[in-house]
Amino acid sequence: MKDNYGREISYLRVSVTERCNLNCIYCGKDNCAKKDRELSADEIFLLVRAFADCGIKKVRVTGGEPLVRNDICEIISKIRSVDKIEKISLTTNGVYLKKYAFSLAAAGLDSVNISLDSTDGSTYRHLTGSDVLEKVMNGIDEAEKAGLTPIKINAVLMKGVNSDGAGELINLAKSRKIDVRFIELMPFSDTGEDKSMIVTGNEILSEFPFLKKPVTVEGTAEYYTAEGFTGRVGLINPISRKFCKNCNRVRLLSDGKAKPCLGSEDLFDLMPYINDREKLADRVKSVIQSKPQGHHFEKKAPSHGLNKTGG
Ligand code: GTP
Ligand code: 5AD
Repeated sequence: MKDNYGREISYLRVSVTERCNLNCIYCGKDNCAKKDRELSADEIFLLVRAFADCGIKKVRVTGGEPLVRNDICEIISKIRSVDKIEKISLTTNGVYLKKYAFSLAAAGLDSVNISLDSTDGSTYRHLTGSDVLEKVMNGIDEAEKAGLTPIKINAVLMKGVNSDGAGELINLAKSRKIDVRFIELMPFSDTGEDKSMIVTGNEILSEFPFLKKPVTVEGTAEYYTAEGFTGRVGLINPISRKFCKNCNRVRLLSDGKAKPCLGSEDLFDLMPYINDREKLADRVKSVIQSKPQGHHFEKKAPSHGLNKTGG
């Protein structure tokens, strides 16, 4: 269905947990170990079905880190069984991907986006608090073998931390069909609020002039090609070039509350309606109708961390 600004809302991001096995500096360290009540796979089915009743066709599973849930494959197959859902993707840090890639594909997952901010071991450890770069690299290989494609790598560049590794990250798109996407740092932690650390999309284009137009815009990203490259390089610029005008998303958090926009403070509890399909769909409609015209987190940081909202 359309929201109040004429945007067709067809994409639901479902955060299945706030927990994460890493402690990334840009995400907000406070809550990675937290475990409030999490929706069960059956509850996720009922809630996703209500969103599908209101026009949702694509679901992205996020967290926290979704692969810390040991029923993650059951969650995927329940979402797969919702009639009108055409596409299911998942965003992960990749650490447990080697273990899960084939079972996730068998459960009905179509593709994965993997967060990887550096290919240098010590920078990776500094950024995430863990020495698991090799596991992530193996996870990427396994996802490719399992056909969880297109594989997209998400990297947040920060000046003085990992920005000198951008070229190495771009190289991942050279010989493999992988899209490497650079995301401008958003203000979701003390690090994120330090604007002097942001590397803008334009700065990346000046540093790597071989990135060529024409540009394809898909969802949040503008994609560039480079001669001799198999994959593409994407720029996600939520700060310097907001994409709210074309936003097609709403969010469901791991406690059953819905959030109309990444930047909004409003949460809508769906749990009181979970056993009444019609009332639940009405509540979902109000969520969609409450989507603001745009976010303003370039001015004010949202109070919910990314581990809660799921990116
Ligand atoms: P696809 O387009 O389906 O590949 O997904 P995606 O790029 O939306 O998903 P992903 O989880 O990989 O997110 C990439 C980056 O986009 C993350 O930094 C998200 O926080 C950011 N992002 C996702 N949705 C929104 C949104 O609605 N608004 C803003 N400003 N940023 C978003
Ligand atoms: N700014 C921009 N992107 C972020 N992500 C996490 N924290 C931030 C931030 N402060 C990205 C991760 C992940 C995606 C879901 O969100 O890299 O890939």
